[in-house]
Amino acid sequence: MVAVIDVQDISKSFKIHHERNQSLKERLLHPRTGSTEVFHALNNISFTVGQGETVGIVGHNGSGKSTLLKCICGVLKPTSGEIRLRGSLAALLELGAGFQTELSGRDNVYLYGAMLGFSKNMVDAIFDEVVDFSEIEQFIDTQVKFYSSGMYVRLAFAVAVNVDPDILVVDEVLAVGDERFQAKCVDRIQRFREEGRTILFVTHNADQVRALCDRAVVLESGDMIADGATQDSLRIFREHLMQDAVAHDSAQLLGTITIDSVTTPEGSFDIKSGSGLHLDAAVTSQTAYSGSFVIELFTRGGLLVSRSDAQGSPVNLLPGRNVIGIDLAQVPLLDGIYDLNVGVLDHHANTVIAWSEKAASIQVTYDGREGGIVELGASIRQQ
Ligand SMILES: Nc1ncnc2c1ncn2[C@@H]1O[C@H](COP(=O)(O)OP(=O)(O)O)[C@@H](O)[C@H]1O
Ligand SMILES: [Mg+2]
Repeated sequence: MVAVIDVQDISKSFKIHHERNQSLKERLLHPRTGSTEVFHALNNISFTVGQGETVGIVGHNGSGKSTLLKCICGVLKPTSGEIRLRGSLAALLELGAGFQTELSGRDNVYLYGAMLGFSKNMVDAIFDEVVDFSEIEQFIDTQVKFYSSGMYVRLAFAVAVNVDPDILVVDEVLAVGDERFQAKCVDRIQRFREEGRTILFVTHNADQVRALCDRAVVLESGDMIADGATQDSLRIFREHLMQDAVAHDSAQLLGTITIDSVTTPEGSFDIKSGSGLHLDAAVTSQTAYSGSFVIELFTRGGLLVSRSDAQGSPVNLLPGRNVIGIDLAQVPLLDGIYDLNVGVLDHHANTVIAWSEKAASIQVTYDGREGGIVELGASIRQQ
């Protein structure tokens, strides 16, 4: 496969100057106090992205995702290492990067086009499509500084996808704006994938990574801790999330709760569509712990079928082995294999205490005639 993005041993550090909190008099007397610290935002990152691949970059806030994308797009110069790109690149970086806020939306479209090497005629040719996609026609001659963040992102996304780039780089922007527009953007990214273009995609939304990415890179405090198949990388990301949360909030919980297995009394995860399924999760805890239990079901294509209400499922774990029963009243899914993730979250459902990705795979057989992933039982007749 041809590498279109080749990141070789990239490091980036920032110099941060700390002013000591002094009175003006002290500062005049001792002008050179305060200190300069070097902050390592990225440490020796290497990976390549092949033609037509969609690669996700995940990591906590501050792990270095945006810094990495900025280096790739040439907005920041890495302290060491080398980046090679093959083909044209359009980037949607964090809000604030990109547009000239004093100019109108229209002028920014032309300016952005020019930056990517588009002549005025070429921008003319795509202009209507850009405005149409952005859905901000009535504001196109308004200065961008009066745009809401949603409008800004709409226009930026519309330009980036219409300038026909070989490589599209997207940083978090899909989190802004309403859900309908987000869905439209995700659709557009899907089409990009199908056209065989290369996409680098940063998000904190694991579901989007699952749905869109072939591969994912995981950053943690500037280090690359995983680069592999999406499912594997997300598992590593979650495990780190767990360790981190535990290290920060409740050190005594570290590794004390594990999900050992998910089994069925029948010993088989093969079911007929529409029937129920009982599962038992074996959880070993070294201490008593009250939290919430959550399950997620995904298609093999990475689409979230269902996630249980975490706050609605409290469990009181006792020291030793616990069995958590999971009853699925009926599974109206069509033919296919569905992967089950299970986890224990804290009471507020914002910290993962224990997690098992792909704890079980459920094989559903369906002999009805509907298509898709779920049986609606539609009956259609002429009135
Ligand atoms: N220009 C800068 N000067 C100093 N520190 C920075 C600068 N840009 C980013 N950082 C720091 O680098 C780290 C990584 O930031 P960033 O790449 O934005 O993370 P992410 O996008 O993963 O949330 C953070 O700790 C951030 O504070
Ligand atoms: Mg960021």
